[in-house]
Amino acid sequence: MAESKHDVIERNTGLMIVLILLVVAIGGLVEIVPLFFQRSTTEPVAGMKPLSALQLAGRDVYQREGCFNCHSQMIRPFRAETERYGHYSVAGESVYDHPFLWGSKRTGPDLARVGGRYSDEWHRVHLMNPRDVVPESNMPSYPYLAGATVDAARLPAHMTAMKRVGVPYTDADIANAGKEVEGKTEMEALIAYLQQLGTHLKTAM
Ligand code: HEC
Repeated sequence: MAESKHDVIERNTGLMIVLILLVVAIGGLVEIVPLFFQRSTTEPVAGMKPLSALQLAGRDVYQREGCFNCHSQMIRPFRAETERYGHYSVAGESVYDHPFLWGSKRTGPDLARVGGRYSDEWHRVHLMNPRDVVPESNMPSYPYLAGATVDAARLPAHMTAMKRVGVPYTDADIANAGKEVEGKTEMEALIAYLQQLGTHLKTAM
């Protein structure tokens, strides 16, 4: 009896496709759905704060310049990675990231924990011309960022949009955004963004 039922399915491609999709969908949902409800994936790590207005402006520069095409922000839990970059990335570090900038390619090193590794001055020199500090570097130069001023006028709207998708900005944060970035260069904003990357996770490593 069971054998003949299987026969029906195997001779009917349409039915087989539907049943395969059903099985894969159930398997996928069982893996994915719990992640929406687990605290470790939905809540920020302890002490995590949303990006300041200046850091957020720097994040925009990072996106616009496509830094994520060469740099990942995702340390995988493998020894070769944790010894080089530090503690592996955890989901709670990304909950305020819209969109996330994990990247998928490493022409350059992972940047998930680059915050605090170098001085602001090192970053400035490196972004002006990477060859000045790393002679063999093939990273592009970004000298024009030092001459471009952050567009302060659009930050309040940007922060309001972030708030709408769950980043806990206060009305005061949004009201003061313009003041905080006033007159700052895109270079300063980008460095402020880089310097906080991966600094929120406090672990006894
Ligand atoms: C074409 C690929 C490429 C692009 C695009 C690129 N980088 Fe790089 N980056 C590299 C390479 C390769 C290195 C390693 C050599 C060096 O330090 O210059 C590097 C190194 C770095 C480092 C030092 C990391 C460390 O741990 O030593 C930082 C910080 C950095 N890049 C930031 C940026 C930022 C910010 C942008 C976008 C404005 C950017 N990169 C765009 C290739 C790239």
